[in-house]
Amino acid sequence: MANVIFELKDVHFSYMGKYPALSGIDMTIDKGEKRAIIGANGSGKSTLLHLLDGLLFPGRGTITAFGKDVNERAFSDQAFSRDFRRRIGFLFQNPDVQLFCPSVKEEILFGPLALGEDKVETRRRFEQLIDTLGIEELLDRSPHQLSIGEKRKVAIASTLIIDPEVLLLDEPTAGLDPLTARHIIDLLVRENASGKTIITSTHDLHIVEEIADTVSVFSRDKKLVKSGPSLEILKDIELLQTHNLVHIHAHRHDGRSHVHSHEHPNHEHTH
Ligand SMILES: Nc1ncnc2c1ncn2[C@@H]1O[C@H](COP(=O)(O)OP(=O)(O)OP(=O)(O)O)[C@@H](O)[C@H]1O
Ligand SMILES: [Mg+2]
Repeated sequence: MANVIFELKDVHFSYMGKYPALSGIDMTIDKGEKRAIIGANGSGKSTLLHLLDGLLFPGRGTITAFGKDVNERAFSDQAFSRDFRRRIGFLFQNPDVQLFCPSVKEEILFGPLALGEDKVETRRRFEQLIDTLGIEELLDRSPHQLSIGEKRKVAIASTLIIDPEVLLLDEPTAGLDPLTARHIIDLLVRENASGKTIITSTHDLHIVEEIADTVSVFSRDKKLVKSGPSLEILKDIELLQTHNLVHIHAHRHDGRSHVHSHEHPNHEHTH
């Protein structure tokens, strides 16, 4: 059990009690795992990550993190809340939700300051992150005046600077140019190699093989339909098609109609 980070049992969640978002989820995530959460729009991926971060609580069923129940009562204990916030970092799908300081620099340093982190270590991580993300020239700007990709980079820096054990990443590469996306993936893979658990929701099957050992597929009826090794899931074209993750393309070649899937999940990597 010491190796289990999250355990979900029969978790259900509806927004305002009437918009179902997750239905009967059983799931275990171990320490050091790389897990991808994939599924169509509205299949509950973001909701799941919010539940894992203790921002929402199940209507039915239970979630434990590090062996402790995650519920509203637990968060009324300051020691629990602080420990939880220190150990788990969340990158929101929409960076606007995450950014609230007057400058990028303050934004990135807000978390470590609030948690009373060591100043020297914070400075070291700060320098490293702005270098990796190439955001030095943004430091004095207002986070709200940045492009979407720039905002996402700032949000990534403010999540990673706390050096949490677990990273919850909601579509971390959405809106990023290919080179920046590459840097972010490399960064996340390095963080995992150094022991962090990374849980990433994505639609981008091209990054799944790198950012996940295990993939969980969610369905439009908000259920977890399958979890399995990345390569096995990526090969299952029928499963991917059923869940809007690849789409069938009808083409005419040499006068003949022919159908193939648009994505190529088993593509060769060129890096
Ligand atoms: N704030 C909200 N109020 C009401 N319903 C919501 C809210 N947020 C999400 N939902 C509903 O919950 C379901 C799951 O949404 P969620 O955002 O978790 O999906 P998702 O898999 O992350 O989708 P996407 O790929 O578009 O990000 C959807 O049917 C959605 O309409
Ligand atoms: Mg989402």
